Amino acid sequence: STNQPLKVMISGAPASGKGTQCELIVQKFGLVHISTGDLLRAEVSAGTEIGNKAKEFMNAGQLVPDEIVTAMVTARLSREDAKEKGWLLDGYPRSFSQAESLEKLKIRPDVYVVLDVPDEILIDRCIGRKLDPVTGKIYHLKNIPPETEEIKARLVTRPDDTEEKVKSRLDIYKQNAKSISSTYSNIMKKVDGNRPKEMVFKDVESLLSQAKGEKVKTATSG
Ligand code: AP5
Repeated sequence: STNQPLKVMISGAPASGKGTQCELIVQKFGLVHISTGDLLRAEVSAGTEIGNKAKEFMNAGQLVPDEIVTAMVTARLSREDAKEKGWLLDGYPRSFSQAESLEKLKIRPDVYVVLDVPDEILIDRCIGRKLDPVTGKIYHLKNIPPETEEIKARLVTRPDDTEEKVKSRLDIYKQNAKSISSTYSNIMKKVDGNRPKEMVFKDVESLLSQAKGEKVKTATSG
């Protein structure tokens, strides 16, 4: 069939703009967005068993144990919508063993996008980040302010967005980044994430369009 849905992984340090780019990718490409951070935060606020286990780790800026996250992701990836529309995996894999888990299940993306942003910018982005609990949209008090006073009044802050916790999250990211990218080196695309979100998206969009085009070619030539 020529209708092979696109499979995308997006990676990058905390606050590199993954969630922000994912909003734009979903609008344009209609992929199913699977964010392990969002899934875990939903479990925490619903007070589920998973949420109760995950909470301490998240609030301390540490990784949640692999087995919890991997079970959650593989269950979500196997649902019908993800198979039909394609998927956009955000925040997973985050360790070598998570990458191995997907490889074992033969779950591979067509393209692996890495957002590149300098450390000092990341800290500022985390500290200014605000979430809209109603729409799930991500804002930044200075860079990407809310559209109305009504939205502004209901915005919330993530408990792991303090300077100290961001530094710990960034350290953990750096410890793992190399070993994960080795799994995907042949499909890895670095994007300069230190530009306005629309400019970053132009590059992301062209990478995804290209990957989509290549899928169609392979499917029709085979
Ligand atoms: P997760 O939610 O995945 O956090 P993260 O990777 O630290 O990424 P962030 O959500 O902080 O940032 P982002 O890159 O999405 O940036 P955003 O678009 O919001 O994970 C949270 C926790 O869950 C982990 O610490 C861990 O405990 C647990 N967890 C999750 N996955 C796990 C896994 N696989 N294994 C184990 N544990 C796991 O943007 C950031 C800010 O910058 C916003 O304010 C935004 O408005 C602004 N901004 C975005 N783009 C721009 C731009 N171009 N210019 C200026 N400002 C911008």
